[in-house]
Amino acid sequence: MSTSNAFTMAGLDPATQPPRVRAANNIPLPLRERAARPHLRLSKCALARRVRGEFFFAAFALSVLGATTASAADAPKFGKPITEADAASWDISIGPDGKGLPAGSGTPAQGKAIYAQKCAACHGATGEGSASGPRLFGGIGTLKAPAQPVQTVGSYWPYPTMVFDFVRRAMPWDKPKSLSNDEVYASVAYVFQLNGLMKDGDVLNKDTLMKIQMPNRDGFINLYPNKF
Ligand code: HEC
Repeated sequence: MSTSNAFTMAGLDPATQPPRVRAANNIPLPLRERAARPHLRLSKCALARRVRGEFFFAAFALSVLGATTASAADAPKFGKPITEADAASWDISIGPDGKGLPAGSGTPAQGKAIYAQKCAACHGATGEGSASGPRLFGGIGTLKAPAQPVQTVGSYWPYPTMVFDFVRRAMPWDKPKSLSNDEVYASVAYVFQLNGLMKDGDVLNKDTLMKIQMPNRDGFINLYPNKF
């Protein structure tokens, strides 16, 4: 191209000027460079717009990234602090030493009435079990071969505290933790009576419960002999 301009007049070859200088002065690029670097054909203004556009896009992308990072920085959201009262309703484990047994009491007769209402549907009218719940008494002495083992509270469970703990936390199966402590003592008293461990007129409370000797008390290996 033989157009004369400031470069040719100064004895310089426009085609060897740096790309930015060429773009700023609207000096056409050699063909092979045009194909490889099309944006260098843009005028100064267009180039500036383009650069600005890219800058804004980058800034936008960064701000989106920043927003995600910011919300990730707020995390983790583990919910709200638990109240003493909420924690207390879960802190109900009773070990074999009976520590933590609550106040309250119940008799087998009171338990029988509760049982008819809240337990019989699954455990049968008198604890014999059904398709919906296991048998609650009997089977004592069946855990040794050649007998067919019948596992019940009476034949299997080693500690009376377990029965209290289990009924309080898990029964009725469809409404766990719905019983008052008196109702738990009473229904457990009834289950103990079914197993020959209490009689009419006896009262179950945190002291008398600890005196119940479960038939299979010694049927387990105690891993913590110093504890219980
Ligand atoms: C909706 C049915 C249902 C109701 C109602 C129900 N239970 Fe149960 N119960 C079960 C089932 C099922 C199991 C077995 C749970 C397991 O093995 O994990 C069970 C287990 C038990 C056990 C342990 C038995 C064992 O030897 O493993 C006791 C004790 C017990 N229930 C007492 C009660 C008492 C007391 C009530 C009433 C206050 C009651 N249940 C109400 C279904 C029920």
